[in-house]
Amino acid sequence: MQAARCCILKAPMAALEMPESAGQRAAAHKRMPLVLALAAQVLGGILVFGTAFVITRITAWPLPLITLLVIHGGIAALLGRRMGLANWWMPIQAAFPFCVAAALTWQVPSWVYLVVFVGLVLVFWNSARGGVPLYLTNTRTKAALAALLPKEANFRFADLGCGLGGPVLSLSRVRPDGYFTGFETAPALFLMAWLRRRLSGGANIEIIFSDFWSQNLGEFDVVYCFLSPVPMPALFEKARLQMKPGSLLVSNSFEVPGTPADDILEVDDARNTKLHLWRM
Ligand SMILES: C[S@@+](CC[C@H](N)C(=O)[O-])C[C@H]1O[C@@H](n2cnc3c(N)ncnc32)[C@H](O)[C@@H]1O
Repeated sequence: MQAARCCILKAPMAALEMPESAGQRAAAHKRMPLVLALAAQVLGGILVFGTAFVITRITAWPLPLITLLVIHGGIAALLGRRMGLANWWMPIQAAFPFCVAAALTWQVPSWVYLVVFVGLVLVFWNSARGGVPLYLTNTRTKAALAALLPKEANFRFADLGCGLGGPVLSLSRVRPDGYFTGFETAPALFLMAWLRRRLSGGANIEIIFSDFWSQNLGEFDVVYCFLSPVPMPALFEKARLQMKPGSLLVSNSFEVPGTPADDILEVDDARNTKLHLWRM
């Protein structure tokens, strides 16, 4: 490991495509997104239904429920965004009050709740267990990652927790001379990444259903992660022990407390992504 030195680099803009998730929000989802989403709903509900209650008491004019649900959803979406939730949470937040109202109004069969619950568990498998939620690397960040890959052929790249497989799939197209491996344990995400890999036909990609903690990082030249603050200290220790000299650890957004990155690459995207780079 080189002595700690840090400078901030700007990601090259060439070969950038349109941002796919302009609103992925700041790194610092130090709190769980589900908790933030719920907090935004509760606050929005108190605000809207509390105000409606007061207005109705004063004017004796009952506000239509549909109007309240629209306002509640809108406020919850904006509050969630303000609290740091990614853009893709906004439609979920906006629709949530309607879903709750529909579930209370209509006789929704109980198996529907079970199916929705199981679906959420299969996607957000690692949120409760490992403190790692789901958000995806955007297109500009993938382009910045491409510029970090070794110039020589036959290098190996790993994405620890590959989600839907976006980074490995797109990098494997840019660099057919390298080998790309994604590890994932959320069953639904693994399945989707695996299917995308099959459909892409890329011969230089593997999607492996495996906990990355059980993997030896020593065989990779570049290890990428986009996780959360929770696993970073232990992950850095694992990387320090296992990664070979000269290899590169890249953490999207999340620092390692007490171990400043050797370099920080700033990506010119809506969420001001920072790639923290440690050269082993
Ligand atoms: C924030 S997402 C990033 C997804 C993808 N790397 C990307 O950047 O688009 C983190 C992913 O890591 C997965 N994950 C978390 N802990 C894991 C573990 N111990 N082993 C494998 N995957 C894990 C989660 O299920 C989630 O899909």
